[in-house]
Order: sequence, then structure tokens, then C-alpha cells
Amino acid sequence: MSEQGDTKAAAIAAMEASKGIMLEEPLIFEQGAEGRTGIDFPAGFDASKTKPRLGATRRKGKIGLPGLSEPQVVRHFTRLSQKNFGIDSVFYPLGSCTMKHNPRLNEKMARLPGFGDLHPLQPISTVQGALELIDQLAHWLKTLTGMPAVAMVPGAGAHGEFCGMAAIKGALAARGEHRTKVVVPESAHGTNPATAAALGFTVETIPATAEGRVNLDVLKSKLGPDVAAIMLTNPNTCGLFERDIVMIAEAVHKAGAYFYCDGANFNAIVGRVRPADLGIDVMHINLHKTFSTPHGGGGPGSGPVVMAESLAPFIPLPYVTHDGKNFQLIEHAADAKGKQPFGRMKGFHGQMGMFVRALTYILSHGADGLWQVASDAVLNANYVLASLKDVMSAPFEGPCMHEALFDDRFLKDTGLSTLDMAKALIDKGFHPMTMYFPLVVHGAFLIEPTETESKETLDAFIKAMRDLAQKAKQGETEMFRQSPRFTPRRRLDETRAARQPVLKWTGHNAQAAPQTAPTRHKAENALAQNTKSEDDDAAWAAPVLKTAS
Ligand SMILES: Cc1ncc(COP(=O)(O)O)c(C=O)c1O
Repeated sequence: MSEQGDTKAAAIAAMEASKGIMLEEPLIFEQGAEGRTGIDFPAGFDASKTKPRLGATRRKGKIGLPGLSEPQVVRHFTRLSQKNFGIDSVFYPLGSCTMKHNPRLNEKMARLPGFGDLHPLQPISTVQGALELIDQLAHWLKTLTGMPAVAMVPGAGAHGEFCGMAAIKGALAARGEHRTKVVVPESAHGTNPATAAALGFTVETIPATAEGRVNLDVLKSKLGPDVAAIMLTNPNTCGLFERDIVMIAEAVHKAGAYFYCDGANFNAIVGRVRPADLGIDVMHINLHKTFSTPHGGGGPGSGPVVMAESLAPFIPLPYVTHDGKNFQLIEHAADAKGKQPFGRMKGFHGQMGMFVRALTYILSHGADGLWQVASDAVLNANYVLASLKDVMSAPFEGPCMHEALFDDRFLKDTGLSTLDMAKALIDKGFHPMTMYFPLVVHGAFLIEPTETESKETLDAFIKAMRDLAQKAKQGETEMFRQSPRFTPRRRLDETRAARQPVLKWTGHNAQAAPQTAPTRHKAENALAQNTKSEDDDAAWAAPVLKTAS
């Protein structure tokens, strides 16, 4: 093997040696000692002799903070930060979530004091640069999608769906029509039917074809004067491009309905296809997916909605305009000349920090860079699909777009499930893929590698998956059932965890005590040496979730 090949093989071998994440950390209140402090008071300082400045509000009892030295505090928070199993530390192929690297340039720009320290209630004259940035980002979103208008306020993809569908409702009302149904393909993201229902529409589901795409004939049979819109995800949640999309648009328009596209997966086509050219009337874009703004754990998202001319008047408030001299914010319906805004969606003007990051991403990539983003996202997903389809089972023939979908047929007769595979993957140092979604296939594994992963990382992941698939077929099932074995928490009783969650700290309660670190380490050493330690039985026993008494 060449020197370069050796180095790559060594890097992959090092990744293969990963064993979950081993951190355990007590609560800060469980650490420290009474009277210990991280700062020095001047000699002879006596707090009780200081002049009270708080009057009747002065604290009478103990504050209850732990007594900690500075190194204890630093270690505690550093260890907590290392518990964060995120895209900055591991491969995170969570399908439908586009967990790609967030370039640090974006972060640097978002932290510039002129952006980072803004207050949403500052006078307009002092935030001209920020409004210009929103306007510029709007310009590029319109350019990339071919749409003439965009609502920048929505704070997430689902919020964007609500915005787009509310605009459709407004447009229908302006036409004097009361259409009650929204057609949603079976393979839609769950937020699509939820949005339609939240706006009072009845949801009509249409099944997928054997190819995982919309059944055009069934769609046509559902269209009629009572249908307000179709909500279609493209590329869809099976990771496939809706080949008949232009014919779908024609049929929908012929029925007088609107074409809502869930554009959360725009990552796969950005710079290559303009949704307006496909006949789409309105589409949200997840800036936090396509344009790499950080997300996860309920973090901030941003879901601007691009709209065709026919829906543009129904845009929500507030929005940015330019009067030839200055940027303005249109905050009230009375000032929205020629428009009929459907109202406000949130307190202020959108997720400013995400706007800065997304514009930085767009400008730093340029047209060729964005084209490459989509190409590499699709290439990486197809590499995973092609490398695993002989040991796993792919439900649909042919190549995919940005995510590779497998079902659980390959686990037939093994007694194992998709969940068992995902839990075992954690022990190999990878975040699991999305499981059991989309619902159109049984026991789905939805793997979205994104364009920012290297071939070495993909190879290590593929090797891990192949190894697990082969072990499953060889009947090595016990290891799966005990997985994850190398994490601070072992496999939980998920039903009980959902029904009886422990959401309150109960202190040094033996009942709620976690498995101790020494036990875990002993078990791991025993595994590495392939020997059985005395603690094995305790460490390998399936843990029971303790509930607060
Ligand atoms: C296809 C699709 N639609 C809608 C959404 C909802 O977006 P959000 O989670 O930002 O509300 C997602 C989320 O990733 C998605 O993948």
C-alpha cells in the first residue's frame, strides 16, 4: 500500500477503535464542599459587616450554591461540553436533518458586534446595515429559487410551512373561494399534514408508487374544486427526486389549486434546479439545513418562504423594503401598500443570526460552490447506498438524491430490529441514522451523509454498518440487545421513559443513581481483553429506568 493509503487506513482504523462516549458527570450541586470558593476575599473580609444595600430583599437563608474551586468549575463545564454528541465531534448521518458542518466563517460573521449586539427595537436609522443584509439574503434566495418574493420571518421549516399555507389561504379568500382540502403524499414529512390540519384544512393522503414517488394518477383523481393545495416534499423523504414534478404542477394548477413544495431538502438541488421552473408556487427553505446554520436540540432555525407573484401580496408582517434612499420595515398592514398581509408570525423580524450565517455561506460558496454542494451531497449518499446495498436492503431501485434509504428486510429471521442496529452503531462511535421514517417503508434507516463528510469518514461508517449487518445475519444477537454498552446511559425502557419521564433532580437518591463510572470502565476493559470481569453481569444487565418517587 502507498504511504498515503497507509495513513488513510490508519485513520479509519483509529475511528473504528471508537467506543461510544464515555463521559459521566455528576451535577454541579453534587460536587464541592461547604465553604470552598474559587475566589480570594481580602484578608479580614466579613460579609456580615458590609453595609446592606438590598433592604428588605436581602437574602436571609443560605443561597444553596455548591462550594467549588475554579478548576472544579472549569472541569465540570468542559466535561459537560464534551458530552455534546454533535456534528462538531462525530459523524451524524441523521436523515432528513442535514447535519452538515457549520463553517466557522459563518460564526465569525454572526459574532461581529454590529450584528451580534443588535437589539430588535433599535431605531431603523441605526440598523440600516442589518436590513440591507436581510434584503441581500432575500435577493439570493429569490435568485436561487427563481421566485419573485420571499417572506423572511418564519423561524423554522414547519413555521415556514404555516406561513406558505396561510398565504394560500389568504389568496383563496381573496379569490372568494372556500377550498377545504390539502393533498399530501404518504411520503411527506410529518410537519406537512400537521400544518394543513393546523390551518383547518382536511388532509387527503395519496399513496406512493412502488418506486417511492407520487402516484400521478391517484393525485389527479383527488384534485377538484375543493382542493386548496398539494404539499409535496422534493426531493422527497425517501431521498428521491419527484420525476413527474412538472406534470404534478400542471395537474394541480389545472384544478385551480396551489403547489406548496416542502423545500427543506433544497440542499440536494441548490444551484442546479430552480423550483419556480418546476411550477412550484410557494416553498420554504430551511436555512439551518441547506445553508448550514447550526441546529439541533431545539436550537434556532430559520425557514424563509419563497413565493410566486400570485401569493406575494399575502406575505406576513414585518418585511423589509427600500424607498430609494433607506431601508424600511413594514410593520403594519396599513403601511403594506398593495398587499394583504395575513398577519404576524413572531415577535420580531426573523432569525438575524441565521441570516448572517446563511448569507456568509452563500457568498463564500458562490454559484459554483453551491452547485458543488448539491453534487457532493448526492454523490456521498449514493456512495453509502452503493456500498451497503449488498448487505442491507434498499426498498427502491436506482440511485438516490441526498439520502440513502434502507428497510429492515435484511434483518428478517434474525430477531433483530432497526432499533437494535442503531443502538449498536452508537457503540461504534457514530450517531444513528434516522429510524422508522419515512413510514412508507418498513423499519426504515434513513442515512444522510451530507456533502461535508470525507471519504475516510464514510468508509469507516460503511465498514461499521457492514460489520453490524453481517453480525446480525450470523446470529450474534446478544451484543445487539445489550447495546449501547459504552455510553453513560445504557438502553432505556423507551415506553416507560416516554410515559413516566423523570424530569426532576432528586438529589442523592439511590433509586435514581446512575450506573457508576468504575463499573462501566471495568466492563469495557473486560470487553477489550475479551475476558469476563466480576462486574460484567452488573454492567451488562439491561438497566431499568428509575422513576422519581
Ligand atoms: C422535509 C422536511 N420538512 C420539514 C421539516 C421541518 O423543519 P423544522 O424542523 O425546521 O421545523 C424538516 C426538518 O428537518 C424536513 O426534513
